[in-house]
Amino acid sequence: MKEITITTRLTVFDNIDELPQDVKDLMHLAVEIRKKAYAPYSHFRVGAALLLDNGQIVCGSNQENAAFPSGLCAERVAIFQAGAIHPEAKIVKMAISAASDVNETSAPIPPCGACRQAIAEYEFRQDSPIEIYFSGATGPVYKSDSLKDLLPVSFDKKFL
Ligand code: THU
Repeated sequence: MKEITITTRLTVFDNIDELPQDVKDLMHLAVEIRKKAYAPYSHFRVGAALLLDNGQIVCGSNQENAAFPSGLCAERVAIFQAGAIHPEAKIVKMAISAASDVNETSAPIPPCGACRQAIAEYEFRQDSPIEIYFSGATGPVYKSDSLKDLLPVSFDKKFL
């Protein structure tokens, strides 16, 4: 028997203004699309903006449903849209902004497990890392250089 230790690494920006200009612009788009979320049940709005290697930007917000599990997170709305419209393009950067209509969200809000698995599929498929930046309504922004830093020991097609 032996143990293995897996380390992960995140970069912390104190606020949106500390981000490089291109990421700041992407995060502002995530904030704008977040405001258009359809979240009448949770009152929790999430926006995601993707920069593709062809220069295109694709955005998504969470879309809820009265049959709760039928809704979809912002991150998956965005990446599935990118996959559908720009199947040949690589996703280079992803900015995520989350905010509650009823509570303060000053902590960075990370993508949920299901979204991490979905993002992993795209990262494996394109064989290049996706930078992921995530934030709350205010406060710091966390960055992972790759989805692998958010989902170490992930399941992928090589196991099939
Ligand atoms: N949500 C996202 O859009 N992304 C996540 O990574 C976590 C959760 C949405 C789903 C649901 O509409 C609301 O936030 C509350 O869970």
